[in-house]
Amino acid sequence: MPTDAFRLSRVGQNLQRSVMRDLLRFAVDPNVISLAGGLPASEHLPLDDLRECIDLVLSRDGPKALQYSPQHLPLRAWIAEYMGSKGVPCTAEEIFITNGNQHGLAILSRLFLDQGEPAVIEEVTFTGIHQVTVGREAEVRTLPTDLDSGVCVESFAEALKASPKPKFAVLITDFHNPLGVSIAEEKRAELAALAARYGVPLIEDDPYAPLRFRGGAIPPIKAHDEAGMVFYLGSFSKMLAPALRLGWIAAPADLMARITTLRESFDLESSTLFQRAVTEFVDRGLLEPHLQRISAAHGARRDTMLAALERHLSDVARWSKPEGGVFVWVSLPEGLETTEMFHRAIEKQVAYIPGGVFSVDGSTKNALRLNFSNVTPEAIDDGVQRLATVIRQALHE
Ligand SMILES: Cc1ncc(COP(=O)(O)O)c(C=O)c1O
Repeated sequence: MPTDAFRLSRVGQNLQRSVMRDLLRFAVDPNVISLAGGLPASEHLPLDDLRECIDLVLSRDGPKALQYSPQHLPLRAWIAEYMGSKGVPCTAEEIFITNGNQHGLAILSRLFLDQGEPAVIEEVTFTGIHQVTVGREAEVRTLPTDLDSGVCVESFAEALKASPKPKFAVLITDFHNPLGVSIAEEKRAELAALAARYGVPLIEDDPYAPLRFRGGAIPPIKAHDEAGMVFYLGSFSKMLAPALRLGWIAAPADLMARITTLRESFDLESSTLFQRAVTEFVDRGLLEPHLQRISAAHGARRDTMLAALERHLSDVARWSKPEGGVFVWVSLPEGLETTEMFHRAIEKQVAYIPGGVFSVDGSTKNALRLNFSNVTPEAIDDGVQRLATVIRQALHE
């Protein structure tokens, strides 16, 4: 039946097809080397350990493990302790379990934002952040992000100061999607102080922090949050497995009743079984060794990708050098349009995400995002070489 046979809501009518989803369809062809995804290394997902934890929960807890249930308190308590180890002292009452960071973004956007109201995001950012701001008809104010030190603090201050006051801001802290950059340590306290000074909730979207393979961990923005204005979003998607669909919001305990009621309109609750299995996984001390293994694999692949870029593209491209996460951002000469180049890349059997997808106004058309985590080192080298051929061809036209 054609869509116009239904009387959709305005939001429903305005929904655009996801360009990224459309592009990723080409990347599933097994002959295509996909540098387009954002998945952790499949070979390093903890299959056996998770299977044991799920089996244990099912035999120990019986039908309870398969029932509706309130948020699993031992998991909230573990997350609170984990946050404490990252410099964010908090209690289980300040942790709300979600189905991952996209869910957290959707919940907080509903909590703060009415249609037409201002929200602050980065000029180039994860498409899921567009969805909960632009997609909800916010008046979006955008911030430039420095490729070495992260979001521009001065622009953040200007955007928060401007009238009318924004309802919230969203920043990605570590190993940005798609830019690969982390917000410099010295900027983090300033960002928290500005959110407090102007009374604007700052949503800190931080799913990649546990995936560091170089350098020392930096405490998140929330570690500097004395006013309770920073809402931290953490996720088990990248640190453990995306299919668990589990994450959390660290937020003031006073707001938990509202967040709980709001969330009930989406999906009632996260999976009882997986909340318990993840609790078992962390209680057995399996998380740290898993993170070490997966980050080491990602680090080696990142090195392979940077070396391949150096070998094949150093004369025409610049790229980020992430210390963690799963993405490298590649900037090409002005005038080159990576969306137009995409179909030629597919003919050469390599896929990436065109940079324009990540900016609200479609700028950054001459950039692209590459993923290194879920591709073998051989395929990375081959893929970058194919990409270089496509870029050179486009440059000579
Ligand atoms: C910056 C960012 N935020 C949120 C998400 C959504 O993550 P989750 O799987 O936890 O919902 C992603 C996923 O790629 C992401 O890159």
